Amino acid sequence: MFFRKKEPEAAPAAAPPARSASADGTTSVSMTVNGKTVSASIDPRTLLVQFIRENQRLTGTHVGCDTSQCGACVVHVDGRAVKSCTLLAATCDGAQVTTIEGLARDGKLHPMQEAFREHHGLQCGFCTPGMIMAAVDIVNRKGGGVDEATIRHELEGNICRCTGYHNIVAAVRAGAAAMGGARQAAE
Ligand code: FES
Ligand code: FES
Repeated sequence: MFFRKKEPEAAPAAAPPARSASADGTTSVSMTVNGKTVSASIDPRTLLVQFIRENQRLTGTHVGCDTSQCGACVVHVDGRAVKSCTLLAATCDGAQVTTIEGLARDGKLHPMQEAFREHHGLQCGFCTPGMIMAAVDIVNRKGGGVDEATIRHELEGNICRCTGYHNIVAAVRAGAAAMGGARQAAE
């Protein structure tokens, strides 16, 4: 997965796109965040995680390292998990972005959120939004029957400093099964 194992020096380095830069040095960006179209004039150097947290005030996405190591900042961009500290917001112009706040539906937790709650897949909770967004992406790609070894491998890019991996993996397995079941029921 491209959100894992990125070297620190590979973190946000791309030159800001010049195409929409205005005279005051800002650039316009528009994207869909959790189903809502949002637009803003931003510093071209604004990272996606900054745009989400500071511009959109969606603080469920966390910053743990800023160097592409920890996975606390994982969101979905066009349906794929990405570390939002590695992307410039301007490069997400026109994208569909989902954050942890966008998972629940009609006041009901997403099956993966419910599994983390049920299986105590968190201690302090700092890594949890990124873990859950990564876990949903794993299930979307690997299916509801994804095995423990695959889950552990896929979660290599997400660090839990409370060392709660046993329960996290159990939660992902349960969440995967629930997501698979929900998908089947909808078919
Ligand atoms: Fe993005 Fe740590 S804050 S990987
Ligand atoms: Fe504390 Fe993971 S629950 S960092």
